[in-house]
Amino acid sequence: MSKITTARLQAMKQAGEKIAMITAYDATFAALFEQAGVHAILIGDSLGMVLQGESSTLGVTVDNMAYHTKSVANGCEKAFIVADMPFMSYSTPEQACANAATLMRAGAHMVKLEGGDWLADTVQQLTRQGVPVCGHLGLTPQSVHVFGGFKLQGREAEQAEQIKHHAKALEAAGIQLLVLECVPSRLAADISRMLSIPVIGIGAGADTDGQVLVMQDALGLTTGYVPKFTKNFLADGGNVKAAIETYVAEVAAGRFPGPEHSFN
Ligand code: KIV
Repeated sequence: MSKITTARLQAMKQAGEKIAMITAYDATFAALFEQAGVHAILIGDSLGMVLQGESSTLGVTVDNMAYHTKSVANGCEKAFIVADMPFMSYSTPEQACANAATLMRAGAHMVKLEGGDWLADTVQQLTRQGVPVCGHLGLTPQSVHVFGGFKLQGREAEQAEQIKHHAKALEAAGIQLLVLECVPSRLAADISRMLSIPVIGIGAGADTDGQVLVMQDALGLTTGYVPKFTKNFLADGGNVKAAIETYVAEVAAGRFPGPEHSFN
């Protein structure tokens, strides 16, 4: 695999090649996932839940993110590295630029922000200063208390239109990648067609430009509630690298996610 860049991700969308992304939080897993053919690694603020055992992502700090971003970057040579900006670390464009600098210096190639058109100025400022930005719409976990739980978003027509509006506004502001989480498959397919940047889904059906999973879900390590949109790729035996090779192959072939992992 050659080095993955924003230009390569964009070319993959144009060529109809699916992008396989997974979370990682340390050098060992990052290296294994890269060897398994994953194109992009997300240091998700999901680490608050899967590493720290918290019930939400709200307690994660910029220092936590920088520590794990550096660990992942040390394990990777070719994969594209996206780091989450944690809760309340991008409330103003100035604060976002200062905190994004910390994550980029730790080894991120792009930062991810949760939210819609109200982030347009922040996205513009970051991009102008050399920080590529990934948007995140649908179920944005940092707003779990606004939503009243981790719930499907965009099922009602009005809410679906709002998500489309925010996706367009973020693209116009300069995002170069968009994560869509837990939305009906048809909405995700419409947004993927509508935008010229790659759209990565999680719980968003098969008709996006790529998929992302939390590594603990993809390896069947999640204890307690397991979301419907995940799949344990290690269940059929083998080892971690083989499991993630299967994930990459199933995403490429459009076999994952299947209807059983998706929402109408
Ligand atoms: O934090 C995370 O792992 C994420 C993914 C679920 C997309 O944002």
